[in-house]
Amino acid sequence: MGTLTYADYLRMETLLSLQETRIPPTANRAVVLAEQFFIIAHQSCELWLKQIGADLTCAAEALLPPCDVGDLEQSIEFLLRTGEILRLLHGQLLVLEKLPIRYFAEFRPYLGTASGVQSAQFRQMSRLLGDDESPSSLYKVFEAAVEYHGMSIEDLCKQGVGAGVLHRVAEALLEIGNGYWHWKVAHLALTSKMVGSNEGTGGTSGVDFLARRVTLPFPTLRRVRGQSLER
Ligand code: HEM
Repeated sequence: MGTLTYADYLRMETLLSLQETRIPPTANRAVVLAEQFFIIAHQSCELWLKQIGADLTCAAEALLPPCDVGDLEQSIEFLLRTGEILRLLHGQLLVLEKLPIRYFAEFRPYLGTASGVQSAQFRQMSRLLGDDESPSSLYKVFEAAVEYHGMSIEDLCKQGVGAGVLHRVAEALLEIGNGYWHWKVAHLALTSKMVGSNEGTGGTSGVDFLARRVTLPFPTLRRVRGQSLER
């Protein structure tokens, strides 16, 4: 067996061959580079979404009753990692604000009908966290875990830190929920800057469509937590 190199291990040749711009290479170099920048931002987002999908699925599995304290601790590890990755994805959107709009306008026609709204991995994350159309599958197992430990969400919120590991699961969920919301708001702001009130390449109204889809996951947990503070 030969020596494994960094480039072999990470499949660098394949990885770096995947940023194929659609604008003809004869176009202005700055425009070609702007499209490469756009592709890299989307591809790296998809790579991180691959990790998030797997981590959230594992977190949900760890919460499935019967779940002991060790399982709950493990779910927290997965959840906290997702929370941190979401912060990174938010940062990546801010980086994209450095895409000059005049260059974007030049390569945008080459995107055809391709759009982030078709991202299967983002949809998987939204299903796990819940949106307007579907309740969160992750929250459902969280409720089951709380019940398995002889509590209700109300008890949990009332006890706060006294509920120990379950309290920390709840906090980790809320952190992810807020990270998701931050991403949606940043994406909305970026889109508004880049396309104004024009339609999206995916055929939606664009900014209006996105604004309606900015939701905060785990509304029940938020509500019950708030009520637990009332005297
Ligand atoms: C210049 C940058 C970007 C622009 C102008 C933009 C524009 C848009 C628009 C207009 C939509 C509405 C759907 C449609 O196309 O009709 C959309 C949806 C979406 N885009 Fe982007 N986008 C950008 C960057 C990104 C990045 C980096 C990602 C990361 C993968 C992303 C992921 C998504 C997702 C997941 C949706 C659906 C959102 C939802 O369901 O609420 N976008 N984008």
